Amino acid sequence: MKCERQITVGAKSRLKALAELRSRFGTAKTLQHAAFRFVNRFFHFDCLHVIVLRRENLRPLDPAKAARLSTKIATLEQLKEMKKQGCWGLPEKTVDYFKRGDTCLLSYVDGNLAGYTWALESRCPTLVVGLTLSVPREYLYNFCGFTHPDFRGYGLQSFRHHALLNHQQWRDRKGLLGFVVHTNCSSKRGQDKSGYRRIGKIYIIGRGHKLYAHLGRSLRSMGIRRINAVQAKDEVRQTDGRT
Ligand SMILES: CC(C)(COP(=O)(O)OP(=O)(O)OC[C@H]1O[C@@H](n2cnc3c(N)ncnc32)[C@H](O)[C@@H]1OP(=O)(O)O)[C@@H](O)C(=O)NCCC(=O)NCCS
Repeated sequence: MKCERQITVGAKSRLKALAELRSRFGTAKTLQHAAFRFVNRFFHFDCLHVIVLRRENLRPLDPAKAARLSTKIATLEQLKEMKKQGCWGLPEKTVDYFKRGDTCLLSYVDGNLAGYTWALESRCPTLVVGLTLSVPREYLYNFCGFTHPDFRGYGLQSFRHHALLNHQQWRDRKGLLGFVVHTNCSSKRGQDKSGYRRIGKIYIIGRGHKLYAHLGRSLRSMGIRRINAVQAKDEVRQTDGRT
């Protein structure tokens, strides 16, 4: 009985999200999004856009909007509390991420917690299970951005990008690097507003850990390459040795 109710609630909220997507981005993009997300429940078949925000391309914020926004680096206690609340879409491995040195930057609207984004400590992001990359050290890998639905549209996404690049910890980085699933229109819009540019695509197909991934030539020429778990551990060890 409880299970049936959960399924109905889940289906209703998915339909609501699709209706909202349709009103913002039109029917064609909504159908494309729904089809890809449906297929990806059974196996991976997707296209990831790899994007870079170079410091010199960072677009200025709207001062009127930005006046209401702020950020702060999360503590482990805050993350555990947010996990308990259950409405923040935090990654399953939040505590592990924190313990391995990744930073979660919390963002606020008028002092109310409204979202977050993550900065990876190492240079070996796992984009999806089974696909780990090595990326140039001069870029900060930014992942898992999230804005609570009550606070979407306030421009938090760009505000967080500014906060990361202006933070003294990452002043030496040329910019931010990340990826977005090609059907995530809201995220792409927020990234465009910051000045992100697409530098290449990764096509993935497969199941579980067995993934075939094709990285475009532009990515390979920038030094972005796929690595396996052993190589990832070695690279992390080298990073630890240097810092
Ligand atoms: C993507 C996401 C982080 C954007 O955050 P945000 O703080 O709303 O960002 P912005 O305020 O800059 O808005 C970005 C775009 O989202 C769309 N948007 C605005 N309000 C929205 C709402 N209530 N619901 C859905 N999309 C909305 C708009 O297209 C907006 O661009 P516009 O202002 O030019 O119209 C947020 O939608 C989210 O958390 N989504 C779920 C997780 C996710 O997809 N993360 C990104 C992984 S790459």
